[in-house]
Amino acid sequence: MKVAVFSSKTYDRRFLEEANAASLHDLSYFEAQLSPESAALANGFPAVCVFVHDRLERDVLTSLCRGGTRLIALRCAGFNNVDLEAAQGEKMTVVRVPAYSPYSVAEHTIGLILTLNRKIHRAYGRVREGNFALDGLLGFDLRNCTVGIIGTGKIGLVVARILSGFGCRLLAHDPFPNPEVEEVGARYAPLNVLYAESDIITLHAPLTSSTYRLIDTAAVERMKRGVMIVNTSRGKLIDTLAVIEGLKSGEIGYLGLDVYEEEENLFFKDLSEEVLHDDVFARLLTFPNVVITSHQAYFTEDALRKIAETTLSNITAYEQSRPLVNEVTAEQVRP
Ligand code: NAI
Repeated sequence: MKVAVFSSKTYDRRFLEEANAASLHDLSYFEAQLSPESAALANGFPAVCVFVHDRLERDVLTSLCRGGTRLIALRCAGFNNVDLEAAQGEKMTVVRVPAYSPYSVAEHTIGLILTLNRKIHRAYGRVREGNFALDGLLGFDLRNCTVGIIGTGKIGLVVARILSGFGCRLLAHDPFPNPEVEEVGARYAPLNVLYAESDIITLHAPLTSSTYRLIDTAAVERMKRGVMIVNTSRGKLIDTLAVIEGLKSGEIGYLGLDVYEEEENLFFKDLSEEVLHDDVFARLLTFPNVVITSHQAYFTEDALRKIAETTLSNITAYEQSRPLVNEVTAEQVRP
């Protein structure tokens, strides 16, 4: 099948080519993000393959449909960037990679927690400059800390398992409690209780209307003073201005982000020679107790291999009119 691969980087190409060794599909790579401006690049391609920052709003889908595209193959788990109602209206099929490596994201989450706690980001710079003083680097034992996990699906479960190994007390919140999470000793609790009792809060819920800006001023006010918040889920789960106020007042003691509300304009690009125009992001960078990575939690060899394999098998299944186990439909997300 002819596939237009948008937002493609050298690493995407490497893993997609390996998975397509038998040349089952004819892949054309475009560096451009899919947007109203770039949609015409897909003219004549029955399938497009897209990632988290590609925009699949109604006008883009209409334009793709006009150009002959019938299949949207997401090479990610989240599908908040696709207007599923519009896709259904255009009779387009949407498939995704629901699970590739929950370990990749969970392990990165733990990396952020450890970095923030033990201030490894600051220690790294100090030692390179010959400053071996320890003042300002004081951490705390994770053992006996209370960690609140919001969203206990595939990634939240792995996070719970790892943290139980550290000896943490685990609280969880999810509209659909997961018995495997309870098996590792976590206790489900309402958000109010989780906020009030957690030393660390980590977000693993998808972006939906119910999770949009879940962490806002009111939520921060209900948390323990000095709480650590980690978000490796989706940027829009956090009201960034609210957490900046929380950091300034000391309500929030640590913030670890792998995702950011307005990341589309920044992440996955080398902007090191350019002036940063996002003043909110620039403010976040001034805090010593904030660590930000640019949506790299998924970025392991194992994950990229699985993403490429599943993406291509989704496309093959569509081409061969076989059942689409990884299809996402508007029905699945309607409240
Ligand atoms: P999953 O679908 O297995 O689990 C998500 C869980 O969140 C489900 O149990 C669901 O019931 C729960 N949930 C839904 N609404 C909720 C709410 N209002 N409050 C609390 N929980 C709620 O998804 P998985 O694989 O664990 O991924 C979680 C999220 O991680 C994805 O939706 C995606 O946004 C993000 N992600 C980030 C990556 C990165 O590189 N930073 C890579 C992969 C995923």
